[in-house]
Amino acid sequence: MELREGDALKTLALGLPAQVDLLLLDGAKALYPDILRLIEDRLRPGALIVADDADDSPEYLARVRAPRNGYLSTPFAVDVELSVRVGRSEVRGRVKVNPLASRTPRPHENGGPPGSPRPPCRSPPRVWG
Ligand SMILES: C[S@@+](CC[C@H](N)C(=O)[O-])C[C@H]1O[C@@H](n2cnc3c(N)ncnc32)[C@H](O)[C@@H]1O
Repeated sequence: MELREGDALKTLALGLPAQVDLLLLDGAKALYPDILRLIEDRLRPGALIVADDADDSPEYLARVRAPRNGYLSTPFAVDVELSVRVGRSEVRGRVKVNPLASRTPRPHENGGPPGSPRPPCRSPPRVWG
């Protein structure tokens, strides 16, 4: 773990790791949007952001809750906002592409041949004895 002491707006402005998996926000609530802006490009798809007392930062909540900004976000526990980075949709040509949606569809998805096998939703029941 690396500890950076001082004003987060300065200490996080340079030399960030290439990829961030978890962002925990619990400093000055008014700075949540600025801190997020500093880190955002480094958040890998699937990265978690936990923001304490996020209700005190309406601008932050608006940002992570607007789907176009590339987060899935929900209130969690008491005054905590839990968000997952899903990646901002990029406009390529005239088609909007979500990077997470670019995987190859499975046969039963999106018009696979009729009768394509569908994977079971649950594991089969276990039989004991
Ligand atoms: C609510 S306290 C939480 C402290 C710690 N996370 C905890 O749970 O004990 C908020 C802290 O953020 C610090 N803080 C406020 N603005 C900051 C900034 N720009 N950079 C770094 N820390 C800041 C304050 O000094 C304070 O210690």
